[in-house]
Amino acid sequence: MSDYDEIRARIRALCEGETDEVALMATVACELHHSDERFDWTGFYRVVAPDLLKIGPYQGGHGCLVIPFSRGVCGACARTREVQLVDDVEAFPGHIACSSSTRSEILLPVFGAGGRLIGVLDIDSDRPAAFDSRDAEALSAILADVFGHL
Ligand code: SME
Repeated sequence: MSDYDEIRARIRALCEGETDEVALMATVACELHHSDERFDWTGFYRVVAPDLLKIGPYQGGHGCLVIPFSRGVCGACARTREVQLVDDVEAFPGHIACSSSTRSEILLPVFGAGGRLIGVLDIDSDRPAAFDSRDAEALSAILADVFGHL
């Protein structure tokens, strides 16, 4: 299980003073991915046009490049602007399977200043029901630290 306090402090230190969104996403994806063995794919999808996401920095196997807000768990997160906790991806209507080994996911909106939706953070696990509200709260706090002022 992640020691989120330690990860949060490390990410804050690494990102201190940086404002480039891609550099920040690359750093966050790397640190989160290597912090927890539950995380088999860790990455961002960026809002590049109204109702359209494109892949950003990630760790893990190939991720699909483009996702409209109308599709997948990523699209649901972007559409609703709410965390998506998916215990069983096969039970999620319209789930987009970038890997056949994925069993559960957590999706978090990434907000900038004034509630601007920058993108979403997608973490996939090969374990069923790998994520819970503790992950949602801790990861949301990390994202707010890094992106909330941009
Ligand atoms: N599973 C996501 C797609 C992204 S790949 O898993 C990296 C979805 O359903 O939106």
